Amino acid sequence: MKIARFSRLGFILAAAGSAVGLGNIWKFPYIAGEYGGGAFVLVYLLTVLLIGFSIMIAEMLIGYLGRKDGVTSFEDLAPRNKALWKFGGFQGLAGLFIMIFYSVVIGWIFHYIVTSLSHLPSSVEEAESTFNTMLHSDVWTQLFYHTLAFIWITYVLTRGIKGGIEKMNLVLMPTLMIILLGMFAYAVSLDAFSRAVDFMFSPDWSKIDSDAFVTAVGHAFFTLSLGMGAILTYSASMEKGSNLVTNAFWVVFLDTSIAIVAGLMLFTFLYQYGSGPAKGPGLVFISLPAAFYEMGVIGNVFAVLFFLALAFAGLTSSVSLVEPMVQYFIDRFRWSRLRASVSMGLFFYLIGIVALLSNIDGYKEALTWGDKNFFDWVDHITAAIMLPAGGLVMALFVGFSIEKQRVEAALRPQLGIAFDAWYFSLRYITPVAMFIVMLSLMKVI
Ligand code: PFF
Repeated sequence: MKIARFSRLGFILAAAGSAVGLGNIWKFPYIAGEYGGGAFVLVYLLTVLLIGFSIMIAEMLIGYLGRKDGVTSFEDLAPRNKALWKFGGFQGLAGLFIMIFYSVVIGWIFHYIVTSLSHLPSSVEEAESTFNTMLHSDVWTQLFYHTLAFIWITYVLTRGIKGGIEKMNLVLMPTLMIILLGMFAYAVSLDAFSRAVDFMFSPDWSKIDSDAFVTAVGHAFFTLSLGMGAILTYSASMEKGSNLVTNAFWVVFLDTSIAIVAGLMLFTFLYQYGSGPAKGPGLVFISLPAAFYEMGVIGNVFAVLFFLALAFAGLTSSVSLVEPMVQYFIDRFRWSRLRASVSMGLFFYLIGIVALLSNIDGYKEALTWGDKNFFDWVDHITAAIMLPAGGLVMALFVGFSIEKQRVEAALRPQLGIAFDAWYFSLRYITPVAMFIVMLSLMKVI
């Protein structure tokens, strides 16, 4: 069987497509708003730089050397304790769990593309009641668009690495960047731009408690798609002779700049036309549409383009969330791609319906435990626990299990003298930092 491989550009765009997602445009601005901006953004940026980048290289290396699904790659590469290390690959399950709520949110976005064409809410109150009605009582609209998201994602997966994933990313990622940059240029021309810069970059350290810290670190993993085998699985189809460090750099660079661009743009719009940085998941669905309304006709155009870009970001990430388990069933159980894609698709689709219902009045009560409903629990457990834990496993695996000569042979030529610093950070700094996060997590949950 001929093995499909990404082209060089195809790989970078697919991995960046995985990284750039709802996390960048939907989640990042609202959690930054929730934790007061500046200080939170700085913790997040530092994590990306100091920990994220080195784990990105490590995760790429596992895929690149392993050439198989996550479980098999871990198993093949581990010189000892294969049966134990193989569990590192089951992190791929986290992707399916994330898809449970991710697909529902993509559904909301589809719905907003359609409604923004003809109508924008004339006030935050109207926007809030529109969003809340959809969220808490409109099962059918949500179900319809969740189904559409499921069909799209599953279809692309059935087409495989080249004809599905690469092709989609080659079209959607550049389009997304053009849309965002165009809207960003407009934001820069507005008076409120400097207030947005101020909000995002002047730190108020009093806002940072252990909860904010854990959220920032968890988000760094989530946004870079680290710790669950998406990057690993894509890297298994990287061209031979690729430069992992340059690839990792591009992915981290694109992901971080798109988050910053989106954040600055949204906060500018919210300062200029709305009520300032809003908090909570409703930011792009409530405050933003009301701000678009204030812009006049151009607001409708912007709204449609914005939600399109958001949908593109979400869809390109979704396929990478499901692909690790698809690849697992293909490699380990010789399932056909069709069967693996449809089965995994159905998994997140059906449980996604439970997540959707956990926001609906009448069902909500039965699907809420403690302070979170099922939807929020899945989000919290995956982003704050599973991904950082997965990242830690990858760092330890490359740092301690795979023979140093092997790692060095692959990466010294690319990293040069930085190799020693990278290796040291992977072995000691990253695990210690992750351990501290885990400890504060114990307090938080
Ligand atoms: N990075 C994606 C986002 O920011 O929305 C989400 C994600 C994709 C997380 C793939 C993890 C992953 F493996």
